[in-house]
Amino acid sequence: MQKFRKIGVLTSGGDAPGMNAAVRAVVRSAIVQGVEVVGIYKGYRGLIDNIMKPLSYRDVSGILHEGGTFLYSDRCQRFRTLEGQQEAAAICRKEGIDGVVVIGGDGTFRGGVDLTAQGIPTIGIPATIDNDITSTDYTIGFDTAVNTSLSMVDRLRDTCESLARANVVEVMGRDAGDIALEVGISIGAIGIAIKEIPFDEDGLIDKIKQGRDSGKRNYIVIVAEGLVGYAEHLAKLIPEETGVETRFARLAHVVRGGSPTLRDRMLATRMGDKAVQCLLQGESNLVMCERNGTIEPMDITYALKLDKMYKNKLGEGELRSYSIADITEMRALCAEKRRELVGMYEMADRLSK
Ligand code: F6P
Repeated sequence: MQKFRKIGVLTSGGDAPGMNAAVRAVVRSAIVQGVEVVGIYKGYRGLIDNIMKPLSYRDVSGILHEGGTFLYSDRCQRFRTLEGQQEAAAICRKEGIDGVVVIGGDGTFRGGVDLTAQGIPTIGIPATIDNDITSTDYTIGFDTAVNTSLSMVDRLRDTCESLARANVVEVMGRDAGDIALEVGISIGAIGIAIKEIPFDEDGLIDKIKQGRDSGKRNYIVIVAEGLVGYAEHLAKLIPEETGVETRFARLAHVVRGGSPTLRDRMLATRMGDKAVQCLLQGESNLVMCERNGTIEPMDITYALKLDKMYKNKLGEGELRSYSIADITEMRALCAEKRRELVGMYEMADRLSK
């Protein structure tokens, strides 16, 4: 088995609260096992440009509670080319980096697959507020983002109640409605619009009219960012159809910052520690996943295909190299995830009349 002397760690793509906690866990877990760590700054760009610095156990003190990523982040076009990937691998060899832990979303994992293909063992840790990585129940940053969104929408609800208004709130989530759904359920929204499930616009208008006629004073509608322009449309439609004065708010990037919640710190720490164990045991091309409360590694390439299957983005012949058993398992995982989403959505609808 390969002897690891030095590993690298980087954060890439959209930042997420808890990334620092994951970096801390990676650094400390490796150091206590006698392995040096270098922090690679600005994601894959920093790898190609050799922007890195050795990190000691103490260097990662006092960052557990900080939002953002002290290693900075980037979306690097150059790393998408074979040339860029070869340059990055050459830098790893030059610097004696035997393996890399990459922290981010699906773009980051595609980079991890490419780096592994260049002979550098790579392990991924899912961190994105959107929770849009199908292979894991939760991604680092999601819990903080929903809690921040929730506290902001609670405030909007107060002012709606005072003035008998509606407020349509667009929350983050380009490809996944998870933030919208969980915030919507937790605030008791009268309507939740997400990309994954057709929205019953007439049903919403009926509910608001019934509420209005029975003395209800606040109406919160949550819309996922992925439904571009839909929140503004609803904010116009509601007053026209119901006479209820309506405001619009977009929470946007403000929920991507801030101190991570306990749950995100725990998830980041467990995943960071496990990622290092896997790497030092000679494993590679894996992503850490939380499934039913335990941290289970999954092959990154498999996880990316699963993700595409769930999002209906699989191209012709993309599963060619997989066995019937693998494909059946992927379909079952997607069906389970879909069932859970639909079940939650229907519950939200039943409980918000
Ligand atoms: O981190 C995920 C996310 O917040 C999405 O919800 C959003 O669409 C995207 O990032 C926006 O990212 P940026 O503005 O950094 O390109």
